Amino acid sequence: MPQQQSKSILLVGASRGLGEAMAHVFVARGWRVVGTVRNDSPNGLRELARDHPDQVGIERLDIIDPDQIAALGRRLAGSGFDMLFVNAGTANHDQSETIADTSTEEFVRVMVTNALGVMRAVEGLQGLVRADGVIGVMSSGQGSIANNEKGGHEVYRGSKAALNQYMRSYAARHAGDGRALALMAPGWIRTELGGPEAPFSVEETIPELVDTLIAQQGREGLRFIDRHGATVPW
Ligand SMILES: NC(=O)c1ccc[n+]([C@@H]2O[C@H](COP(=O)([O-])OP(=O)(O)OC[C@H]3O[C@@H](n4cnc5c(N)ncnc54)[C@H](OP(=O)(O)O)[C@@H]3O)[C@@H](O)[C@H]2O)c1
Repeated sequence: MPQQQSKSILLVGASRGLGEAMAHVFVARGWRVVGTVRNDSPNGLRELARDHPDQVGIERLDIIDPDQIAALGRRLAGSGFDMLFVNAGTANHDQSETIADTSTEEFVRVMVTNALGVMRAVEGLQGLVRADGVIGVMSSGQGSIANNEKGGHEVYRGSKAALNQYMRSYAARHAGDGRALALMAPGWIRTELGGPEAPFSVEETIPELVDTLIAQQGREGLRFIDRHGATVPW
């Protein structure tokens, strides 16, 4: 009997934090992972690739550079990934500042990374995903407009709400094309971005998040979901 081919994911932003943890879990689930990093520095993904050379590949990508997205698309043409997941994201350095207090430079940096860069990566790399595959992006519960009753984290919230809006437009343009689309709200997790006060570790959360993403296969259309698979209000 022919061997079943392992599933594959193109994971954008896999050098550390949630992205690196996702790479570990996908490998443990038997998937082949192509993870992207921005530079040659040592990181957890490189260690994973050393330990699992048959399962892990590494590519370079900074999502704020459209030329790099196009070049990656050309390098990986014909790959037929089962999933594309754009995890890359950033936050403004002072999360307590209000929108009007934020410098223009910082506003632009966060918005260009979290909204424009992520959507350019989705648009530029979606052709690498199989017709029955999954395209996911890392949003945040803070991107929910309906749930914003406490305020705070204003620039970051706005960038993730913008991302959600752009994914809705993407979904509308791609209605009926068969793929599952997911905006993931992972919960507040201890990473460099999440900070040491976050209630959850990557070990507690990322296996469930990965299994929820895998379960999206075959579920056409866009969902804004948490790591348990529950719907998050827009
Ligand atoms: N941690 C949380 O509590 C939490 C909650 C909700 C949502 N999120 C979202 O989850 C994602 C990952 O967050 P994290 O907590 O793991 O943050 P993190 O530890 O700061 O890691 C951020 C990751 O994104 C990559 N990245 C940043 N800018 C990039 C760019 N321009 N091009 C390509 N890669 C880029 C980083 O690469 P480098 O190593 O090269 O910098 C790194 O791999 C983000 O989208 C974040 O908004 C996190």
